[in-house]
Amino acid sequence: MTLQQLQFPENFWWGSAWSAEQAEGRGETGKAETVWERWYKEQPTRFYQRIGSEVTTDHIHRYHEDVQLMKQTGHNSFRVSISWARMFPNDGVGEVNPKAVAFYRDLFTEMNQNGVKVFANLYHFDMPAKLQGQGGWESRDVVAAYVHFADTCFKEFGDLVYHWFTFNEPLGPILGSYLEDFHYPNVIDFKRGAQAAFFTILAHAQAIAAHKKYGLESKIGVILNLSPTFPRSQNPADVKAAEIADLFYTRSFLDPMVKGTFPEKLTDLLRTYDQLPADMTEADLQIIKENTSQILGLNYYEPRRVKARLTAINPEGPFLPDWFFEHHVMPGRKMNEYRGWEIYEKGIYDLCMDIKNNYGNIEAFISENGMGVADEERFMDENGQVIDTYRIDFIKDHLAYLWKAINEGCNIKGYHLWTFIDCWSWINAYKNRYGLVSLDLATQKRTIKKSGEFYKNLSDNNGFEYETDWLV
Ligand code: BG6
Repeated sequence: MTLQQLQFPENFWWGSAWSAEQAEGRGETGKAETVWERWYKEQPTRFYQRIGSEVTTDHIHRYHEDVQLMKQTGHNSFRVSISWARMFPNDGVGEVNPKAVAFYRDLFTEMNQNGVKVFANLYHFDMPAKLQGQGGWESRDVVAAYVHFADTCFKEFGDLVYHWFTFNEPLGPILGSYLEDFHYPNVIDFKRGAQAAFFTILAHAQAIAAHKKYGLESKIGVILNLSPTFPRSQNPADVKAAEIADLFYTRSFLDPMVKGTFPEKLTDLLRTYDQLPADMTEADLQIIKENTSQILGLNYYEPRRVKARLTAINPEGPFLPDWFFEHHVMPGRKMNEYRGWEIYEKGIYDLCMDIKNNYGNIEAFISENGMGVADEERFMDENGQVIDTYRIDFIKDHLAYLWKAINEGCNIKGYHLWTFIDCWSWINAYKNRYGLVSLDLATQKRTIKKSGEFYKNLSDNNGFEYETDWLV
């Protein structure tokens, strides 16, 4: 083993990310009901320990303190999402909410004053419930309402935001809402999901077109959750299974949102099974072609391992991507057992190389990567600080592969961790903690973890010392 100093490019973005629904809390500004609040009202037992998003990390009341904590943990950039429901409390449409504008302007100004660049995302799973009732992403009217919301944000905050993002993980709500039953309104219907996906992509393109009108210096792009796909073996059936899984989960959004076109193999397959969206015009395709991402955020958590199906599908059951493959559990894999996700550090390198080689080496950054751990109180010292060495190791091991990717020419501009202060994780609520800063749920007290101190040093030094026998 040798110690090697891993130095990152100048002005590298060090920071983290979270979202409005997961961190802000409802507050008093006025806010429309979101799908999460609606679902919680209807089925509270689907949320871990029956905790909903009413309070979460109470950022709406504590943002002054939180900006100081950003500074103390080395942030030079931070991704928030702007709540559509807060900006348009009349069910996502109508007049803009001056109290919401004041809140975000104050927060963004304070971040800038403290040397923290604002990365603003416009949609992080938080549809106003009434609009969901009108069809959500299956509806052209909802797309129009979203574009109006996006346009309003460019106008109100364009002078304060460094980079914009149209969506965080647009695949997530499609999987959750239409295929796998972990998002409201819990439908299982691929074709409706394909329509919602298509309109999400259209909304992305139209928001980019709106951003261009303002001539802002900022760039605009999207944040995608991407996992490199690995076949179990080189057997042609395994390879084909991996290729199809990759089309569904990776290329489906990456191609149209970055290249402006849909992968032909995927559209052919969907046509064969009569699963293409019903409402899709030439004009829509043209807008998508002309308005592609200028910057790309990569959320990387785990690899995707796939094998050929061992069992027959039931053709009378609902059409699903896994008609074509099965997930492969690789013997001896390293796991984050709390979240059930494989840890495979090299995947971050593979992902970056894919973007370099197949997507024109578009300007990109790691927009999420992180490790959720349950019962972190176990690791508290006598002063109440969480000594999370496992998280420090997780970050270092991923950064080493990111460093290698950058040295091989990948256009990677930063690394954002999930997350800053422990925040609410959808149906997992506060089960797994991801933060650089711990949260006492009863008192809302924030305490910087050991990883938060590490992160400050990392950012101050723009690199770290790594013990390695494989990097050169
Ligand atoms: C990302 C999302 O997929 O993963 C976040 O953008 C989410 O919103 C994070 O919280 C961690 O996943 P989870 O399900 O443990 O909260």
